[in-house]
Amino acid sequence: MKSIYTNAYPIFFTTEVYKQLNAYILDKVPSKILILTDTNTEKYCLPIFLSKLECNCSILHYSIPHGETNKNIQACIKLWHYLSENRIDRNAILINLGGGVVTDLGGFVASTYLRGIRFIHVPTTLLAMVDASVGGKTGVDLGVLKNQIGVINTPEMVLIDTRYLKSLSNKELHSGIAEMLKHGLIYSMEYWQKLTANTIKLDTNLDALIWESVKIKNEVVEQDPNEKGLRKILNFGHTLGHAIESYFLSLNNKKTLLHGEAIAIGMVLAAFLSKEILGLSDMYVKKIASVYKIYFQKVTIHDKEVASIINFLQFDKKNRNNQVNFVLLKDIGNPEINCVVSNTLLYAAFGFYQDYI
Ligand SMILES: NC(=O)c1ccc[n+]([C@@H]2O[C@H](COP(=O)([O-])OP(=O)(O)OC[C@H]3O[C@@H](n4cnc5c(N)ncnc54)[C@H](O)[C@@H]3O)[C@@H](O)[C@H]2O)c1
Ligand SMILES: [Zn+2]
Repeated sequence: MKSIYTNAYPIFFTTEVYKQLNAYILDKVPSKILILTDTNTEKYCLPIFLSKLECNCSILHYSIPHGETNKNIQACIKLWHYLSENRIDRNAILINLGGGVVTDLGGFVASTYLRGIRFIHVPTTLLAMVDASVGGKTGVDLGVLKNQIGVINTPEMVLIDTRYLKSLSNKELHSGIAEMLKHGLIYSMEYWQKLTANTIKLDTNLDALIWESVKIKNEVVEQDPNEKGLRKILNFGHTLGHAIESYFLSLNNKKTLLHGEAIAIGMVLAAFLSKEILGLSDMYVKKIASVYKIYFQKVTIHDKEVASIINFLQFDKKNRNNQVNFVLLKDIGNPEINCVVSNTLLYAAFGFYQDYI
């Protein structure tokens, strides 16, 4: 897989990854390297990573508990203290070895500690490989509200070694597939067709599909790094998806949904709304719903819960003048931003999801 050189940093793939990393370290001579993991990537990925890393400086390791509920400011404070207590200076490098929680949180901590130290992303989930590690968005949740605190700042490099995916559960793999499907839906009919031609599995040609997803994400980000317009298309399925994710996070007694699971529901809802508002063909709405069923189970959402989810929409970061802006599709690969949707249609979309899935 060919390396991708973005305007700000390179993205290297499997065979190039450690060669490039070790050459970078040899060149920059960092004062220290701190590897950030969560408790799972500490177990499954850190031993592999350490066996490949070559450097003469001291290596520290810090682990956060795994899971979205730990992507918060308290975890950042603990990590900032750790960096300070261990005299991490501006010549140090933070390596984020983990899924989107680790790359989002680690990128944010590195961007703010001492007004910014360098960081490298080594994504270990499919979702982080195709989405979270690319594009420079970093940050944490504020309570149950997703990604409300953060900065846009780029890593030194992104290292995608798909061998890390071997220890990932199918559920997590499917969560990443949701973002890949999103990339096809918003950008490329051809890519969407490739993704939906066969069921995606770890042992199929996943590497090539990952590469293409990264390329699409990067092409969108490069045209609009600060999300003034075009980049908003990457939020397809996320307006309702984030609201659903926040709603489930707020139910402490119930299990939460994975990010990709919530976004997958959001995409089915957005497909229905796209038909109603922009005339997306019914055939594609049904196809999007049937692809959902391959990877995800139906989540029962009662009418009373829909009201709470709609309430969460007011915190969406794309809102302007109290108006919720949706990304919808005119066709596969042809999105429209800033679409306004009535509450009646929102209820109808949830009705479609409940009946059709
Ligand atoms: N910054 C962005 O542009 C962007 C884009 C998309 C999503 N995100 C964020 O990413 C997060 C979701 O990312 P995620 O799905 O990677 O979640 P995650 O980081 O929580 O990882 C999912 C689970 O897999 C485990 N894990 C990670 N790598 C593993 C491996 N190789 N083997 C076994 N277990 C492993 C983790 O410990 C965790 O339990 C959300 O917070 C979302 O908001 C950010
Ligand atoms: Zn997402």
